[in-house]
Amino acid sequence: MFANAKGGAGKSTLAFLASIHFAATHDSRVCVIDFDRLRTTYNAIRRFQASGVQSFFLADEHGEGRDIEPETVERALEPRRASSDILFVDTPAGFPAANMVPAIAPQAIFVPVSISDADIMATEIYLPELEAAAARIVENGGQRPRIFLVPNQVFGSDQVSHLRSVFRGHQVRIAPPLTFSRTLREVFHFEPGDTNIAQVFLEDDGFFRWMTAEIFALRQLQSLRR
Ligand SMILES: Nc1ncnc2c1ncn2[C@@H]1O[C@H](COP(=O)(O)OP(=O)(O)OP(=O)(O)O)[C@@H](O)[C@H]1O
Ligand SMILES: [Mg+2]
Repeated sequence: MFANAKGGAGKSTLAFLASIHFAATHDSRVCVIDFDRLRTTYNAIRRFQASGVQSFFLADEHGEGRDIEPETVERALEPRRASSDILFVDTPAGFPAANMVPAIAPQAIFVPVSISDADIMATEIYLPELEAAAARIVENGGQRPRIFLVPNQVFGSDQVSHLRSVFRGHQVRIAPPLTFSRTLREVFHFEPGDTNIAQVFLEDDGFFRWMTAEIFALRQLQSLRR
């Protein structure tokens, strides 16, 4: 699950690229769910349908403009969990963590934080909400999702140390940073051969390998538990 109360932090960019990278490197049935009425991720994934990556925009089935109930989310995800090996869930800014995180029950929550005072301060408010939602999953007998803060749009390594010190004491991991780059700004338009996406995977090879490996390991862990 990709979440942050703040808009423009990089949720959709990460959800889109992480799911494509995972599908390209693992022989798995990948399914992407977009909760955002703007459908950025859903539209971007649709052209990869031929490669077996499925995408769903939930408001298609449950009515746009209405708030989706947690029970509806649980019911809607159930068949997708059954028919795919892995789900990537993109959520919009302001998506309510308290009831939606338990409804989705993700194994991992990636929280992109674009390194600016405003984003860091917003995340200081949002993170405790996520941690409380994660604790509710545990109370209900589920596994606590791992929470990863992803330093995004980073200009220098001092920014990552700053983020690390602000969130010391929280049960979160700090992901490798994703630097600010022009290629990352331009992943949503179509280019023949998807050369723009390939370029991002080349430039940020370390980051996407880390993310895919982390997600794959969590998925393996889940199947061992079953
Ligand atoms: N590392 C980066 N370098 C440069 N631009 C980036 C980077 N990450 C994201 N962006 C750009 O920042 C903008 C916001 O990113 P994105 O749409 O992924 O954020 P979001 O969290 O999904 O926003 P929303 O809350 O509106 O859904 C986009 O124009 C995207 O291309
Ligand atoms: Mg988005």
